[in-house]
Order: sequence, then structure tokens, then C-alpha cells
Amino acid sequence: MTDSATPNAPDAIDVYWADGFNHVEGWVQAGLLPYLKHIGLLQKTLGITGEVAEIGCFHGKFLIALAALLAPGGKATALDVFEDQNKNLDGAGAGSLDMVRHNVAAYGRRDVDYHYIAADSSALTSLAKIELTRDRGPFRLFSVDGCHTVEHTLADLQTAQECLAPGGVIILDDYMQPHWPGVTQAVSLFCGAVPRVAPFLYAHHKLFFVGVGWHAHFLAACVAGLKTSDAARMTTMFGSGVLTVYP
Ligand SMILES: C[S@@+](CC[C@H](N)C(=O)[O-])C[C@H]1O[C@@H](n2cnc3c(N)ncnc32)[C@H](O)[C@@H]1O
Repeated sequence: MTDSATPNAPDAIDVYWADGFNHVEGWVQAGLLPYLKHIGLLQKTLGITGEVAEIGCFHGKFLIALAALLAPGGKATALDVFEDQNKNLDGAGAGSLDMVRHNVAAYGRRDVDYHYIAADSSALTSLAKIELTRDRGPFRLFSVDGCHTVEHTLADLQTAQECLAPGGVIILDDYMQPHWPGVTQAVSLFCGAVPRVAPFLYAHHKLFFVGVGWHAHFLAACVAGLKTSDAARMTTMFGSGVLTVYP
């Protein structure tokens, strides 16, 4: 465990990347690290607080990374169908609660309160979302990586938006990934309904959204801190500026 209060102690997320990341099965690209750190630091600088959550955590590879960005004593919540794979309609990886628990015990922060919810994310009631926000949120970082159909992804983006803390960031996996066209279609439908979040960064298959009031600041900070290679280009998506890093 990293003691972030100790001067010169490495960040918990660097420790995870060095010691645990490669041992946890899942779909997160190693090159995502500087983007996560940049956003975590930006939120800290701006005084943005909140917890972390993920819909679709598989074996916990990204969940542990999100938890590494929490303040000591913070809450990390994973929602997945886990063993009820009949609700995983497109077979986007079969989540396992045992594997998540094992990986969190082996590589996760010990000063974080983890909680696991076995549920079909597309069937959450309004009350369930309110209870999630009240008991475990609101969320400063919310990853959407569950079932990749258009229906599930759209529902999950709406859940993330409803449970988000002011200045919180939604991180959607597999946008514009040809294997998962439902994700891309869902973003078009979500953004077409004029949400109160807007995309500002695309990197390593993940699309990042923040509340419209924070968008200009987050975009400028990403351009200033992350537009370092030829792979980065300024684009516009759904009327919002996005720093796009590809491949
Ligand atoms: C691509 S994997 C997630 C990968 C993970 N984020 C990582 O860090 O590697 C998709 C996950 O979504 C879960 N899932 C599928 N359908 C779901 C549903 N309807 N509700 C909640 N979770 C679901 C699967 O069990 C699986 O664990």
C-alpha cells in the first residue's frame, strides 16, 4: 500500500502499474496511465471531490486503477452481472466476483472501501440509482464498460450522468471500436439528446466526458499537458472540442 502522506512516496497508481497491472486480466491499455493521472491531478487541483465507480469490471483491472486515484478512505464501487452471465447479452467478457476480490486483495489500495453490486445495469430503477449515489457516491470518476449493446451503453451513460459529482468525469470504453458498434451508436443517441456532459478527450479507446461547465477548462488542461505527440489531434465531436489521441 502506498502512503500518499509520505513525502516522495510514489503515487498509488504508479505502484499498481508497476506491480499489479500486468498480472490482472482485462481490457485496459498501459498507455492510459498519463491520462488518468492528469485528470486525477486536475480534479484535485480544482477541489473536485467524490468517489469512483465502474459498470462492467470483469476482473477489476480498471477498477483498481480508479481506486488508486481516490483520497484515503474513499469508496470504489463495481457493478457487474458477475455470475449471472445470462444478462451479458453480447458476451463482452465474463465478469467474476471471485477474481475481482482476489485482484483487489493482491493489488488494490488497502485504505479504500470496495463494494460490489451484482446487477444488470440496464435494469436499474430510479430508486436504485438514487441509493447508489447516496450510499456510494456521488462519483468523481465513473467508468462505463458493461454490456456493449446500444441499449445497455445508452442506459449506462445515463446512469453515470445521473450519479456524477460536479466536475466528475465519465470514462466510456470502446468508442469507435469496430467490434462494438453499439457503443458508438449509443454515444450518438446520448449526445443527440443534449446531455449536460460533453466529451473532451479520446485516448486508448476511451472517451472522456465532463459537465459542460467544466468542459473548456478540462480541454485546455489536456491540450496543455497531454498534446505531446503527433498522435494527438484536436477534433470536434457533437459540437464539443475533443483532444483525440490515436492510435
Ligand atoms: C469488457 S468487460 C469489462 C472490462 C473491465 N472494465 C476491465 O477493466 O478489464 C465487460 C464486463 O461487463 C459485464 N456485463 C455484461 N453485461 C452486463 C450487464 N447487463 N450489467 C452489468 N454488467 C454487465 C461483464 O460481466 C464483464 O465483466
